[in-house]
Amino acid sequence: MNEINVKTSHPYEVLIERGAVDSCGKYISEIISSRNAVIITDDIVGGLYGERVTNSLKESGFECSTFTFPNGEHSKNISVLGDIFDFLCDASITRSDILIALGGGVVGDITGFAAASYLRGIDFVQIPTTLLAQIDSSVGGKTAIDIKGGKNLVGAFKQPSLVICDSDTLKTLPREVLADGMAEAIKYGMIRDEQLFELIESHNLDTIDTVMDKMVYTCIDIKRDVVENDEFDRGERMILNFGHTLGHALEGWHNYTDYTHGMGVAAGMCMITDMLAPQLSGRLKKCVCAYELPVGTDIPMSELLPFCSKDKKRESDKLSYIICNTIGKAEIRKVTVAEFSELMGE
Ligand code: NAD
Ligand code: GLY
Repeated sequence: MNEINVKTSHPYEVLIERGAVDSCGKYISEIISSRNAVIITDDIVGGLYGERVTNSLKESGFECSTFTFPNGEHSKNISVLGDIFDFLCDASITRSDILIALGGGVVGDITGFAAASYLRGIDFVQIPTTLLAQIDSSVGGKTAIDIKGGKNLVGAFKQPSLVICDSDTLKTLPREVLADGMAEAIKYGMIRDEQLFELIESHNLDTIDTVMDKMVYTCIDIKRDVVENDEFDRGERMILNFGHTLGHALEGWHNYTDYTHGMGVAAGMCMITDMLAPQLSGRLKKCVCAYELPVGTDIPMSELLPFCSKDKKRESDKLSYIICNTIGKAEIRKVTVAEFSELMGE
């Protein structure tokens, strides 16, 4: 087993172990004295792994119940959050009990926000089952739901008490969901670690499983370092947004349907690199293609820019974008919306 200790305001461990789903009860009981555990999951992940997690929790002496909601981004909303609160209340869950987020980033984000707000805060554990959730969303304490005005607009910082990553769970992922997570892995290589980038570019979507544990460990360790330096997202943490300004714009243009976050990040990284660091563009695009992700878009920049100016990382009239001039090194740049438009050739 590999362990990463995250030293944030509320420190915790990330455990990386194949098969850990069947030992999660033991690991959770080692850090928490509560006896009631509520698993929050979606209908796909619950069907695949719910019983194994429940059995493991019961073997370790937990009383266990499960709240399941329909899979997909459309469930990350205030109505499902309200249903979770009602479920917890009906089950008489108290502040000394624990929530378990079993699933991808949607489950992790809404469970984390429920944990941040139910009874003004209750502990929660992340058992991420998508690559994106293992290497990104389960670590770092950002929790959120979507509202009509946009994605992730309501949320809180709430660090989990433990994160358990079982890379065997990634074997049941649909191909395109695995590819989505690879966009974030490529991003970590680009912003912080040329060796990681080299490891990723030497594989493709069919062969990456052979180095999955090493890649997951390295990505989480980069996230740990960035989050420890800037837990509340006021500076350095913005480098994690490489490719995201245009990526979010692409997602928004597609109305968050039929165009995933990973596709947006992949295309966004390639587009900004094409414009501002063309010397890296060929290598980045070759790598992105190997993971069956888009390297650009046919949508005119004039149609994407209005979505960039809605970016939630905007401060007053300025927005931030990230540029990598060398693989492994990222810079944060702040410009006005007009300057960004000019840079993008408009
Ligand atoms: P997701 O949670 O919607 O999962 C994608 C699909 O895969 C779902 O249908 C799910 O049921 C299925 N699935 C999950 N695990 C599976 C498994 N092991 N086998 C088979 N199917 C499985 O999507 P995601 O990409 O994991 O997460 C996206 C969400 O994460 C977005 O809401 C995004 O805003 C959020 N996010 C949050 C952060 C953060 O820091 N909090 C960072 C990045 C993204
Ligand atoms: N996923 C970006 C962040 O955690 O800051």
